[in-house]
Amino acid sequence: MNELWPSTQDWFSALYILLPTYCTNGAPVVFGGGRPIDLGKTFPDGKRILGDHKTFRGLISGLVVGAIVGLVCSYLFSMNLLRIALPASLGALLGDMAGAFLKRRLKIEPGGPLPVVDQLDFVVGSILLVSLFSEISLTVVLILLLVTPPIHFLTNMGAYALGLKRTYW
Ligand code: CTP
Ligand code: MG
Repeated sequence: MNELWPSTQDWFSALYILLPTYCTNGAPVVFGGGRPIDLGKTFPDGKRILGDHKTFRGLISGLVVGAIVGLVCSYLFSMNLLRIALPASLGALLGDMAGAFLKRRLKIEPGGPLPVVDQLDFVVGSILLVSLFSEISLTVVLILLLVTPPIHFLTNMGAYALGLKRTYW
């Protein structure tokens, strides 16, 4: 079979990274709000550093949810908590913040769409941090990048329908 075609092991490796990544990314939608991480400060370009949608509560709830999911996964599938779940969780939050930073530099208001970046910032952050602690194959990276946009879109539609998000992207 083609070398790039995912093996069962690849799908599981991808799943182990996706679970803490997605749960972390979703937590702030439910628990976020309040004091913004940039404390309301602006960048030299006059726009906010990150904006009001990146909050301490979102950051902390994401880390807590990532740690809980990691603990459950390490119990159920003996996944390595320190090498996968925690870096995936922290990476997802940092990636999302990097995406917001970029959006503000492009003068896009919080919540405004930036296709591709909105769908992938958190998963790219997660991949980068996880790859510091364990090896991720190109196949697994490709699975993560390809399955994320459709899942992200569906979960956002769900959050929008439930009234948790004001926009569906
Ligand atoms: N959120 C939060 N704290 C974070 C990240 C997210 O409180 N560190 C919350 C915000 O309420 C945000 C929601 O989670 O609106 C969804 O996050 P996201 O879709 O990434 O934010 P956007 O509304 O697109 O804002 P931005 O343009 O700044 O990315
Ligand atoms: Mg975002």
